[in-house]
Amino acid sequence: MDKLELLYEGKGKKLYSTNKQDEVIAEFKDDLTAFNAQKKGSESGKGSLNCQISSLLFKLLAKNNIKSHFIEMLDERNMLCKKVKIIPLEVVVRNIATGSLTKRLGIQDGKMLDFPLVEFYYKNDDLDDPIINDEHCKIMGILDNDKDIEFLKNTAREINKILLAFFDERNLKLVDFKIEFGKNENNKILLADEISPDSCRLWDKDTNRKMDKDIFRQNLGSVVKSYKEILNRING
Ligand code: TMP
Ligand code: ASP
Repeated sequence: MDKLELLYEGKGKKLYSTNKQDEVIAEFKDDLTAFNAQKKGSESGKGSLNCQISSLLFKLLAKNNIKSHFIEMLDERNMLCKKVKIIPLEVVVRNIATGSLTKRLGIQDGKMLDFPLVEFYYKNDDLDDPIINDEHCKIMGILDNDKDIEFLKNTAREINKILLAFFDERNLKLVDFKIEFGKNENNKILLADEISPDSCRLWDKDTNRKMDKDIFRQNLGSVVKSYKEILNRING
């Protein structure tokens, strides 16, 4: 499958058209950004690790009946995907309080939440991805019916259950994660984008060592070293 035209370049990936109208290739970049791209960096090998980790997780989810845009990994950096129109929502699930949740609400960092918290953020760089609720979604036409909103929330909770157990067996705590969804040509909602240490918080179960993009956000060292360790732990 060949890359034809560059359709879109995001912060973490480039999307190319292919000779099939309904399939695209996502190329994972080595670039790292944080705080709405106010902090920028790059580490060689990061993109390929995220592509491999993401592919593995999409396959795990597929086995558990979660439908995504993932078709196959073409090579270490390129993923063949079904073409979807991204719904401009970042769906975040949190198991442990940290990051923006603790900043916004003063909840103690590291507190285990009584149940997984599902949040919606409006994906809009100009507005700095503000947190929104179901009614904002409907009023803004991001999603126009309760059924789709409930589907996103329930699917996010289901994905959390699957990933929590999977990472736990590999001595990793899934602290929180962000996922995105898209609609295919038949208006069917599919999980999309990526699931990687760029979009999840993962802590070592024994030591609570941060192993995800917080390493970059907080200048804690090399992300590649840590992402390799994650890939090794989940590959076995
Ligand atoms: P937050 O605590 O900064 O809101 O992040 C919650 C989760 O979402 C965390 O796993 C990191 C992920 N995330 C992204 O993938 N992209 C983003 O732009 C942001 C802000 C968070
Ligand atoms: N992904 C966002 C950015 O690139 C923020 C983040 O992940 O911290 O700026």
